[in-house]
Amino acid sequence: MAIPEPSDHEWRPHPRQEAFMQSTADEALLGGAAGGGKSDALIADAVRLMDHPKYSAILFRRTYPELEMSLIQRSRELLSGSATYNQTRKTWTFPSGARLVFGALEHESTVHRFQSAQFPWIGFDELTSFTAYQYDFLISRNRNVHGFPNVIRSATNPGDVGHFWVKKRFIDPMPANTKAWFVRKGLDDVRVDEGTPRSRSRRYFPSLVTDNLTLMAGDPDYIYRLEQLPPRERAMFLEGNWQLAAEGLVYEGFNPEVHVVDPFPIPRDWRRYRSIDFGTVNPFVCQWWAVDGDDRLYLYRELYEAQRLITELGPEIHALTEKEHISATVADHDAQERLQLERNHQIRTIPAWKELLPGIQAVTKKLQPDIEGRPGITVFRDCVVRVDQKLRSERKPTSTQEEFGLYQWAPVTEGHAPKEEPLKKDDHGMDGTRYMVTFLERLKSRQGRFRLTGDV
Ligand SMILES: Nc1ncnc2c1ncn2[C@@H]1O[C@H](COP(=O)(O)OP(=O)(O)O)[C@@H](O)[C@H]1O
Ligand SMILES: [Mg+2]
Repeated sequence: MAIPEPSDHEWRPHPRQEAFMQSTADEALLGGAAGGGKSDALIADAVRLMDHPKYSAILFRRTYPELEMSLIQRSRELLSGSATYNQTRKTWTFPSGARLVFGALEHESTVHRFQSAQFPWIGFDELTSFTAYQYDFLISRNRNVHGFPNVIRSATNPGDVGHFWVKKRFIDPMPANTKAWFVRKGLDDVRVDEGTPRSRSRRYFPSLVTDNLTLMAGDPDYIYRLEQLPPRERAMFLEGNWQLAAEGLVYEGFNPEVHVVDPFPIPRDWRRYRSIDFGTVNPFVCQWWAVDGDDRLYLYRELYEAQRLITELGPEIHALTEKEHISATVADHDAQERLQLERNHQIRTIPAWKELLPGIQAVTKKLQPDIEGRPGITVFRDCVVRVDQKLRSERKPTSTQEEFGLYQWAPVTEGHAPKEEPLKKDDHGMDGTRYMVTFLERLKSRQGRFRLTGDV
């Protein structure tokens, strides 16, 4: 299929784009370096069967501004004249009646709006900006009664908040350019032989900037500009390198399918606590935790925002807490800000216990599900009060939940053993979680000794 280019050239896929577009895998990912022609390949693949009146495709970007600036803008160049665009519905309708819809999935639970949707073609651009929950949910919407193949098509650079789940799904289990089959067994994803009932296939197509012959010819210096990036970004954007976490994730046991749940009303007799990690350039994090009768912790609300002042945050913490009774608030040691909270906003805080490795061990232990399969730490889906859009556009985590999926051990340096300390990066919700878990543990052992009850 050839799409007309604005300048009357026909859009023709470059060889890598063509291989991706011809893939017969249920799920295909075109991934790696920036500028390889990934987004173009997605649009072109989405409209391949638009001569069929019943065909429909939906292509997602995580946020509306990104969607508008990239895919929608490019689709105007590629599709104007061949189809009609409805701005409100973000939908191209083709002469046959077939449709290409654009969507954004700002919050994890935004996917619930697609509960009754059906699309034979579902696409994600910048897949690592989405969550595994969103991807899995939409797989269940990938169906049709007209006999079209049902496929999921994605494109991405490495390195955003979804880096590790995407790597686990497409990069680690099989060599690049190889189709492999998988079935779900409980929480596990098991590789199986071709033809195994209910199996679904996947294939990863690595993409390099040199694949994009148009760009190479039109802007030969682009590659040199990528070479000027700092090493980590260069590895991701130029080389399409997925090996960013040499020493692994700190909380490997954190599984969103186990540890993240849809919110439920918190019983009145559960105690509530808050945990604060200060920051202005870095995000300020205030977490609200509820504790059930078996000492299981539920993160039910959080503020996670950079560039905010205590003068605004103090009143907001009060407003959000409303009539809830908070038994105690633990906080980072920062004397200045603790004093400000106490003096100006009547929020008294207890200095957190900050020993790093024992704290990490305590959280690791708490994450483990008990015999009933229930973990000691659970996060309410979308519990962050507002998503800090600046953090998101910088591809940084915007919540404690996202941090759990990214928090890594620091690379080994001379004189240090592996897993001796975590990378000091994107760890503000991790700090807050550690303060909470260790505070409650220490409180409990104290109560055991002194039979202390009531608030602290
Ligand atoms: N087959 C093609 N024909 C013409 N131009 C293309 C083709 N593939 C990509 N381009 C152009 O190259 C540039 C980069 O492609 P894009 O798909 O945005 O890359 P990526 O998503 O991998 O960063 C864009 O301006 C795009 O329109
Ligand atoms: Mg792109």
